[in-house]
Amino acid sequence: MRVDVSLIPGEVAAKDVSNAAVVVIDVLRASSTVTTALANSCEEVIPAESIEEAITLASGYSRPDYVLGGERRGLAVDGFDLGNSPGEYSEARVAGKKVILATTNGTRAVKQYGGAREIVVACFLNAGAVLHMLATAEDRDVLLLCAGQDGRFSIEDALCAGLYASELAQLSGAALSDSARAAAAIYEHRRGSIEDALTESEHGTYLASIGFLDDVRYCARQSVLDVIPKVYDRRVIRRARLGPGES
Ligand code: MLT
Repeated sequence: MRVDVSLIPGEVAAKDVSNAAVVVIDVLRASSTVTTALANSCEEVIPAESIEEAITLASGYSRPDYVLGGERRGLAVDGFDLGNSPGEYSEARVAGKKVILATTNGTRAVKQYGGAREIVVACFLNAGAVLHMLATAEDRDVLLLCAGQDGRFSIEDALCAGLYASELAQLSGAALSDSARAAAAIYEHRRGSIEDALTESEHGTYLASIGFLDDVRYCARQSVLDVIPKVYDRRVIRRARLGPGES
């Protein structure tokens, strides 16, 4: 197994992902929100690339069956049911429903890699479950895709990619690309202070300034949700956790 990291989204266009699991990481906050919604029994998350697309998608469903969520500049969109705060995606709000979600960077990244062998959504919250799945399918490569911020590098996504790269090297003896080694080094440097690193990050600081410090702290929690969000036919569903040897 070879593990590569795309530290910014545009970098991955040139890569062949036909035998790879693409792991989309947007720690603050889209990946964390998707993972939380699925942990709270939403039926599926339908990612939208724009507010307009989300509204069009919603028009195809009847009202009790879906919730419409999303953000612009971190704040809930006017007329939408929910923003992009993981805490809003409680069981009471989302169980049994479709979640149509439009975020600035994360949901766009989810829709980019249709040619991949498998696409999953990952963050710190579900690291244990996703790592277990990746480590037990050693016949394919792994591309950790950092969603970043408006095409730019985000330290929180690199830290999370570094955790995955570092663990896969240890668990499966995976070979790391240069960018995977760089991400792993960043993670090793901050592994004891992930919450502080997220709070100090540019987007973490911004989220705190608009009242979402609790979200940042929540998104720093590691391996607390046993959920593997898998992209299937442009939807994100909860993948069953498989035993050793299954993939
Ligand atoms: C995004 O997709 O850009 C983020 O999830 C923004 C946010 O923190 O809401």
